[in-house]
Amino acid sequence: MTIILGIESSCDETGIGIVALGADGSLTLLADEVASSVDQHARFGGVVPEVASRAHLEALVPSVTRAFATAELELSDVDAIAVTCGPGLAGALLVGVSAAKAYAAALNVPLYGANHLPGHVAADTLEHGPLPSPCLALLVSGGHTQLLRVDDLATKITEVGSTIDDAAGEAYDKVARILGLPYPGGPPIDKAARRGNPDAIRFPRGLTGPRDARFDFSFSGLKTAVARWVEARDGQEIPVDDVAASFQEAVADVLTAKAVRAATELGIGTMVVSGGVAANSRLSTLAAQRCAAAGIELRVPRPRLCTDNGAMIAALGAHLVAAGVRPSSLELSADPGLPVSTVSV
Ligand code: KG4
Ligand code: ZN
Repeated sequence: MTIILGIESSCDETGIGIVALGADGSLTLLADEVASSVDQHARFGGVVPEVASRAHLEALVPSVTRAFATAELELSDVDAIAVTCGPGLAGALLVGVSAAKAYAAALNVPLYGANHLPGHVAADTLEHGPLPSPCLALLVSGGHTQLLRVDDLATKITEVGSTIDDAAGEAYDKVARILGLPYPGGPPIDKAARRGNPDAIRFPRGLTGPRDARFDFSFSGLKTAVARWVEARDGQEIPVDDVAASFQEAVADVLTAKAVRAATELGIGTMVVSGGVAANSRLSTLAAQRCAAAGIELRVPRPRLCTDNGAMIAALGAHLVAAGVRPSSLELSADPGLPVSTVSV
């Protein structure tokens, strides 16, 4: 058995995961510690990079200690370390990368600089086992909205489409602010939407015209449409539940329609949905309906594995180890703009 320590610090979650890679390639999750600084950002309506970096610095070592206590292992049991080296906030990434380098040097074990985005896909293999090749990943988080063709989780990932402006989660956060709901906006909008009528307002579906890029997304027009709709009712009471439900319907409609179309056109039979927005109730219901109708197998990891965590990075590290990928050097640095096709550095 190979023990992999995963470290994630690209945004506002300090995640420490420990995964055991079996001789047969199986993965076992032994610990998944997450310390979030989200409460410290709430009053700003978005993540404040300097605040996030400081929070990582304070949370990292205690989180490692807790993870090893949960796994009932010692640091000396670690065989390899994987760390998110991008994409993400530069200062936040640096904390994780520096810690990983220090642990790797002290323990004399290989270090893998891993890409956060394939990490979200790797999270699913902790719950549902190996991925068939190829599969299509719909990655929906606060920072990213992408469609990825995954031929090999450790070595071959190709971007098929992405947002040209806001990420899906970012649209949730901005619309929540317009509606006077707290940050992060996904959960309160999801909750309000369950009480509202999704057909109350027909909000625009971005980039779904016949001449638009087939697999790219756009959410800034939708956000603006919600803002205009609310502004136009200045002084009147806003039907928050209906606006939330109608907005959510537009997001889920576009995401699932494009993802199913991509899978169908590319001849891919399995879809993985991951990232914070994958926790959305309407998105998962609609994805299940549309995938079933199109004969596509749908895989969605449990919400805890969808949002940022260290287990997903440990899992990706395990795939890198199993595939015999060359480890990173101790010169490894953080790369805030790391492209998704670079699975490890
Ligand atoms: O993956 P994640 O934890 O962090 C990033 O890498 O961004 O995703 C956070 C995003 C936030 O924008 C949050 O509003 C959104 O995921 N989110 C949701 C839900 N839960 C979290 N969006 C829609 N519905 C939800 N239930
Ligand atoms: Zn993420």
